[in-house]
Amino acid sequence: AGSGAAPVASGTASAPAPVPELFSWEFASDPYPAYAWLREHAPVHRTRLPSGVEAWLVTRYADARQALADQRLSKNPVHHAEPGKTGIPGERSAGLMTHLLNIDPPDHTRLRRLVSKAFTPRRVAAFAPRVQELTDRLIDSFAARGSADLIHEFAFPLPIYAICDMLGVPAEDQDDFRDWAGMMIRHGGGPRGGVARSVKKIRGYLAELIHRKREDLGQDDGADDLISGLIRASDHGDHLTEAEAVAMCFVLLFAGFETTINLIGNGTYALLRNPEQRARLQSSLAAGETGLLETGVEELLRYDGPVELATWRYATTGLTIGGQPIPAGDPVLVVLAAADRDPERFGAPDVLDLGRKDNQHLGYGHGIHYCLGAPLARLEGQTALATLLTRLPDLRLGVDPDELRWRGGLIMRGLRTLPVEFTPSA
Ligand code: HEM
Repeated sequence: AGSGAAPVASGTASAPAPVPELFSWEFASDPYPAYAWLREHAPVHRTRLPSGVEAWLVTRYADARQALADQRLSKNPVHHAEPGKTGIPGERSAGLMTHLLNIDPPDHTRLRRLVSKAFTPRRVAAFAPRVQELTDRLIDSFAARGSADLIHEFAFPLPIYAICDMLGVPAEDQDDFRDWAGMMIRHGGGPRGGVARSVKKIRGYLAELIHRKREDLGQDDGADDLISGLIRASDHGDHLTEAEAVAMCFVLLFAGFETTINLIGNGTYALLRNPEQRARLQSSLAAGETGLLETGVEELLRYDGPVELATWRYATTGLTIGGQPIPAGDPVLVVLAAADRDPERFGAPDVLDLGRKDNQHLGYGHGIHYCLGAPLARLEGQTALATLLTRLPDLRLGVDPDELRWRGGLIMRGLRTLPVEFTPSA
C-alpha cells in the first residue's frame, strides 16, 4: 500500500530521531509505517492535530488496552483543559451531548444498562434474514452492469438502511436518513454549518418518531422495533427520558454508520489486495463453512479496521501511560490501528491471516465503552463480504491502487470510493 514510508531514524544515539509527518495526505493513504515508528521511538507522543488541538497518541498494544480501561481518562469533554474544541459539530447545540461516548459512570452505567436490555444479541440475530435481503437487493442494483463503486452503491447504503430498519424508521423516511448521513460523512471535517443542520434535522425527526412510538405503546403493545424496545426498557423502575432516547438513537446511528461502511470498504479492499487469502475464503464459503468468515472479519478489523483512533479521552488527574506523565486536562487518543499492528502482541502483524488465532484486537475498543453494536457490525460485515465474494466471484479492483483516496478524518479510516469490476450477472 501507498508510498507513505516514514523517514527512518538517523541511527546515531545522540541525534534526535525525526518524527514522521503525521496526518498528511501520504499518511492517510498508509499510516502504518509512521505508527510503527511511533510505537518504537515515541509510544506515548504529544502532537498537534490538524485542528490545532494538542493531544497524546498512545500506540503500543499494552498501553492502549490499559488506557481504554482507565477510568481516570474521562469521555466527558468538560475535562478538556481547552473545552469546546472537540466533538461532533452541531452536536452540542442540538442537545445530543449526553450519549454513551461522551459520559462516564455512573451515568454511563445507567444508560448502557438500559440500552443493553433493548439492543440484545438476540434481537441482532433475529435481524439476520433482513440484512441478507438488503445485501442482495443492493448487489442486484449493480450486478448486471459489470462495474460499481462499492462504497457509494453498497457499503454506504447497507448500514444506514439496516440501522433504520432495526430502529423502526418507516421505509418512506429512510432515504432522508441516507441524505443526512451522506452530508455528515462528506463534511465530517469540513464546513460546520451543513453538518450542524443535518444533526439538527436528524434530532428533530428522531424526537418526533420517538414521541409517536411512545404514544403507540400506550395504546397497545406497540411495535417490536428497537426504538419501542428502548422506550419499554426499564431497570429497577428506571426508564430513558425522551431526550435520552433521542441521544441514544443518535449515537446508534452515528457510531454504527461510518464504522460499518469502513469495515466493508477496508475489508473488501484488503481481500482484493491479498488474493491468496481471498481465494482461501472463497473456497471455505463454497464448502458451506462459516469459521473462516468469522475469524476473517475479526482479522480484517485488526489489519485495517474502521476506527483508526478511539474517540477522545481526557485526563481527569495527572497520570502516567507507558511511563510517560500526562498532565490533568490533556486529551489522550488511543491509536487502535497502531496497537493492532504491535509485534509485541501479534505475530507477523503486517500480514493478513484470515485464520489468525488468539486475535484479541482492539478494533471494537475495550473496557466499559466497548462497542455496543459489535454483534450487528459482525453480522453486517460477514453478510456483506460473504455475499459479495459468492455472487461476484471474480470481483477485482477497477483502478490502480495508487488512485484510491482515503478520507482524511481523524478518528475513522476509510476509502472515499472503491471502484470494482466483475463479470456481469443477472
Ligand atoms: C463504541 C468500533 C459498529 C454502536 C465503539 C468503540 C469502537 C467501536 C472502537 C469504542 C470507542 C471508544 O472507546 O472510544 C466499531 C466498529 C464497528 C462498529 C469497528 C463496525 C465494524 C457499530 C454499530 C453500532 C455501534 C453497528 C450500533 C448500531 C456503538 C456505540 C458505542 C460504540 C453505541 C458506544 C458504547 C459506549 O460508550 O458504551 N464502537 N463500532 N457500533 N459503538 Fe461501535
